[in-house]
Formats: sequence, C-alpha cells, structure tokens
Amino acid sequence: EKGGYPHFMIKEIHEQPDSIKRTIIPRIVNGMPDLSECGITVEKLREFKNIHIVACGTAMHAGMVGKYVIEQLARVPVNVDIASEFRYRNPLVGEGDLVIIISQSGETADSKAAMALAKEYGAKTLAIVNAKGSSIAREADMLIYTHAGPEIAVASTKAYMVQIAVMYLFAFQFAFAKGKITEEECKSLVSSLLEVPDKVKETLDKIMDDCQYVGSTLINADSLLYIGRGLDYALSMEGSLKLKEISYIHSESYAAGELKHGTISLITKDMPVIAVATQNQLLEKTISNVKEVKARGAYVILICDEDNTFGEDVADQIIQVPKFREELMPMLAIVPLQLIAYYTALSRGNDIDKPRNLAKSVTVE
Ligand code: M6R
Repeated sequence: EKGGYPHFMIKEIHEQPDSIKRTIIPRIVNGMPDLSECGITVEKLREFKNIHIVACGTAMHAGMVGKYVIEQLARVPVNVDIASEFRYRNPLVGEGDLVIIISQSGETADSKAAMALAKEYGAKTLAIVNAKGSSIAREADMLIYTHAGPEIAVASTKAYMVQIAVMYLFAFQFAFAKGKITEEECKSLVSSLLEVPDKVKETLDKIMDDCQYVGSTLINADSLLYIGRGLDYALSMEGSLKLKEISYIHSESYAAGELKHGTISLITKDMPVIAVATQNQLLEKTISNVKEVKARGAYVILICDEDNTFGEDVADQIIQVPKFREELMPMLAIVPLQLIAYYTALSRGNDIDKPRNLAKSVTVE
C-alpha cells in the first residue's frame, strides 16, 4: 500500500507531480483557467471587493501563499485568518466579500464553523477541499476540489501542493476578471503552471540526497529558525510547521527583515537557520539577513535556485532547486522543506506517518 516507499509521507511527496496534473489540467480550457464547473465565472468574480482566506494549519499556510499571489496579480486585498480566531472575532465580513475556506479533510471543526459564520454574515463562500462529499464541500456556495488523492500521512504534503496550485489558478482567473492582467499574460502564467509538475519531479530528483544529508545534520538541534521574504516567508511558515510536527524540534518562521527587531538575539551556533531565497527582487535583502545570522555563528542552510551560488560566508549548506518562473517558485521550493522535515524525523527515529498527539482530521475544537 505504500508502493515500495517506507512511509506514506515520502510516497505522497513523490505523488505531487501527478496530484498537480489531476488538479489543474481539467480546469484549463484553451489555455485559460476555467473554474465554471466549480460555480466560478469571470462575471461573478468581478463583483468581489475583498477576499478572506480562512483555514487551519497547513491549509492556512497555503492561504498565505494565496494572499501574496492574489494581491500581487489582482490588486484586491486578501486577509488570511486562522479559523479558530475568525469564528470568535465578530469578523469584518459581509456582502460583496468572498470567503475562501481551505481544507484537506473538509471536516475541520473550526473551518466548518468559520464558513457557516461567513454565510450568516452575507459573504459568499468558496471551499477548496480534497475529501469528496465532506461537510465543508457540501455546505459551500462554490467548490473547487483538489485532486491530491487520499492523503494518509498526518503531515500534509501533496494536499498543500494542490491547494497552492488552486490558489494560482484562482489568482490568474481573478486577476483577468478584474482587468489587471491581459489574456496573453494570463495564458502565459497558465502555461508556466502546466510546466510545474515536471519541474517538481526534476526538483525531487535533484535535491533528495542533499536534503537527506541536511536532515542528518539537524538530528541534535533543539530549535531552528526559518527565514524568508515575500512568498519565501509564506513558504517558510509551512516548512517550520512540517519540521515541528514530525521531528519534534522547535522552530519558528520569521520574515527575514523582522529578525533585528528581537529574534536575532536568539542566534548562537546552536540555532540552525533555514533561509529560503527564491525571489529575485528580494534576494539581496534576504542574503544580507543570512550573512547577519551567519556572522553570529548560526549554521545556515540556504534554499535558492540553481543560478545562484554563494560562498561559505553565506551558508554552510546550499540546496539549489531548478530555476523557474519566480511567481511559481513556491511549488518547487516547498519540496526541500518537506524533505528536510522528513529526513530529520527519520534520523531521529520518529513515527513519521503518525506523529505523537496529532490526528489527521481535527473534528473537535
Ligand atoms: O483537513 P484540514 O486541511 O482542514 O486540516 C487542517 C490542519 O489540521 C492540517 O493542515 C494540519 O495542520 C496538518 N497536520 C499539517 O500537516
């Protein structure tokens, strides 16, 4: 049942290219995103003035990537909320707003309650769900199924990947509907998205051994920091959660520019730092933050694209993912973060697919 892999998690990491294909290909018609089977049309999208993305855990992190991408392309404000906060905050949502609920299981209690609240307040709801026929899928106004296939490992990998893929498709269609990108630009983005499955496969083949080695170097770490800017920051949140869940090593993700406002005081030689730097415009800024932590003794693991090489003054380990269109780099750069978590947990002898204290689906508050 694990298809020759030792754990479901690593099997599911390898299934990502196929999951992406299954999720995006049926939603592309004549080179343009087409979400009409999900109840979403260009006319309908034009009306939304604000977007709220509400979810828990990994699904919420997919929403963070969505925020950066939707705001950048469609120039519409996107608020990302933790479902358990949103539901008790008397949130500022109402008519004219779209509330997007992301959930792998479609049964998460807080996400379900948040969706019911959004409806009660007069907002339209769009659910992005993996489990067919689940409560959240049934109750939403609009529904996009992700086709990750069943995810068994508690630590979500392929479900996150396809949630992001849907965020991109949605952002492209929304930006086009709002007149912020032309049809030509939209088609070009879609055609790049179609290349992602092969690029993810290439990434897996390229970095597996490096990530295994990095995992073995983190075996005795007590605490780690993840840093990045922009999309890389959104991604590092997920990298940090993955590591915590299965390796039981404490970690936090920080916007790289925020370090000097307090957190840098934690840096010693015993605090490894994983820096994600795939966004060209932000590269110089992030690398200068990396040098700052390195100068204070941190063991630095840098994730960047293969066009960039850095010396020992910057990083102790460099993991280079294939160079690809910048907007879509999160779909490649998440792979080393998943693998580092996996191999660190493996080195520590943990139960990877069933980490302590966690359940696959959180159906109670
Ligand atoms: O089923 P959902 O996507 O609603 O679940 C939300 C979170 O419980 C889930 O993503 C959790 O954080 C995962 N274990 C992360 O790997």
